[in-house]
Amino acid sequence: MRRRVLIAALGLALAGLLLGAEDARAGHESLGALLPGSALEGSRLFAGKGCLGCHSVHGAGGTAGPDLGRGILNRPLLEIAAVTWNHAPGMEHVLHEKRLARPTFAPAEMASLLSFLYYLGSLDPPGDRDRGAALFRDKGCQACHSVGKDGGRIGPDLTRYGRYASPLYLTAALWNRGRAMAEAMEARKMVRPVFQGNDIPDLLAHLRSASGSTERIYAPPGNPKRGEALFRERHCMECHAVRGHGGKVGPDLAVVLRGSLMRIAGTMWNHGPRMWARMAERRIDVPSFTTEEMSDLVSYLYFFQFIDPPGNARRGLVVYREKRCGTCHGPEASKPVAPPFTAVVEKLETPLGVITAMWNHAGRMAEIMTEENVAWPLLRSGEMADLIAYLLEAHGAEGPVPGRKGATAPNAARESRVTK
Ligand code: HEC
Ligand code: HEC
Ligand code: HEC
Ligand code: HEC
Repeated sequence: MRRRVLIAALGLALAGLLLGAEDARAGHESLGALLPGSALEGSRLFAGKGCLGCHSVHGAGGTAGPDLGRGILNRPLLEIAAVTWNHAPGMEHVLHEKRLARPTFAPAEMASLLSFLYYLGSLDPPGDRDRGAALFRDKGCQACHSVGKDGGRIGPDLTRYGRYASPLYLTAALWNRGRAMAEAMEARKMVRPVFQGNDIPDLLAHLRSASGSTERIYAPPGNPKRGEALFRERHCMECHAVRGHGGKVGPDLAVVLRGSLMRIAGTMWNHGPRMWARMAERRIDVPSFTTEEMSDLVSYLYFFQFIDPPGNARRGLVVYREKRCGTCHGPEASKPVAPPFTAVVEKLETPLGVITAMWNHAGRMAEIMTEENVAWPLLRSGEMADLIAYLLEAHGAEGPVPGRKGATAPNAARESRVTK
């Protein structure tokens, strides 16, 4: 009963958010690469395969495992897979206690699940209204803007922003009015505020509380595919490259951008004046965005981070030896207890195939490791990608291209050597 309520609540909260991801899959080649599987389908699997029984998302769900809604999985696909792998014995332990079978996945399901887990990282923690009130005062907003009864009259009254449940409305307005605001600040010799971390959601929490509004207007879910089109149409690409393709006036955004949607939106605001100056030089009109468009654009910018830098087979061999996979899988095993990779790579074929198999077999592996007294091999950042590159290359599959057979991030991965 309780479980059904939880699933319903999670479904409501996420369906709206994720619907956009599903239609984003259709059509567009390069974005098909960025959006593996369907995140909406992933949210269904998350409930249906029992993850929700142990894990909550922003407080809704089970408590045996950690809450996965807090941005801990805001990292590339194979890094999420590595984190999940590292925790496999701990999970196995609880599964055992609860007498539950380990849920298994097909590679396409795994892709949906992982893109869902990644999407969770785009959500900011809810704003803190007390912190927001302090920011509103300290950043000078209050000197120019009123909310409810109090505040300045230089800028428009912001009471109506209290209706919005999503900080994207505030973000779009800040960007669109940004230049006029910067001028008003300059005229009064005020320092233009910059945003960090969760500042924008905190400010919104203050606006909501000060306006006393009980209305809740959600932003439409971002559609990264439409965001990519906007990125081109609104001239961003004339100055910014994405993984090396595009202009060189501003930084390569796939290299510099990190974090949740609001962090990215905050970064855009922070760099506004220098960008506007460059736009003026090149006679590009500063583009303005509707909330929907802003949502699409930042989702697109967010999804860059989902693509892993390609693995390196030579480093992968070192990982394979260090983690002692060979003690069970051969060739150096004294008594091989696991299938040799030569036999399995044919059928695994892609990185997604490998991580799916690793998940599905983790239970049995954990058991044998306990029997054989081998410590669970923990994978650090980048090691999953290297290991997979080694397994696939050394054993004759075509190498470290996530998602051949339409699974995950195809060739884009080859170009995306991101320095970390
Ligand atoms: C029977 C309970 C249980 C189920 C079912 C379960 N987990 Fe877990 N999970 C745990 C526990 C306990 C941990 C912490 C293990 C540890 O710290 O070693 C964990 C850890 C994790 C982590 C690492 C989180 C971190 O700390 O960064 C991820 C990711 C994860 N689980 C994903 C999943 C997914 C996806 C599913 C569904 C396919 C799932 N879990 C199903 C109990 C469970
Ligand atoms: C120096 C005065 C000044 C300061 C300081 C200032 N603003 Fe503004 N703000 C303005 C003016 C003037 C406008 C209207 C700009 C225009 O006409 O396009 C505006 C517009 C806005 C809008 C759009 C309102 C609408 O009509 O939809 C928002 C939202 C906003 N500001 C938020 C903020 C926040 C949040 C802060 C603090 C971080 C801030 N402002 C600081 C002067 C200021
Ligand atoms: C005329 C050139 C130009 C155009 C057009 C342009 N930018 Fe920029 N952008 C820059 C420059 C230059 C910087 C670095 C500014 C600085 O250092 O403060 C920058 C910085 C940024 C940053 C911060 C990157 C960082 O360092 O973290 C973001 C995000 C960004 N731009 C997004 C966009 C988006 C989205 C568009 C399209 C709506 C766009 N830019 C259009 C020139 C441009
Ligand atoms: C203690 C022994 C042991 C170690 C060490 C070990 N494995 Fe395994 N592994 C197994 C067993 C046993 C199976 C088969 C489990 C089953 O059939 O459910 C397996 C299965 C697999 C599979 C699935 C193969 C298939 O048939 O689909 C993959 C992939 C895998 N292991 C990868 C690794 C990697 C990578 C490492 C090193 C990080 C590793 N294993 C270390 C025992 C081990």
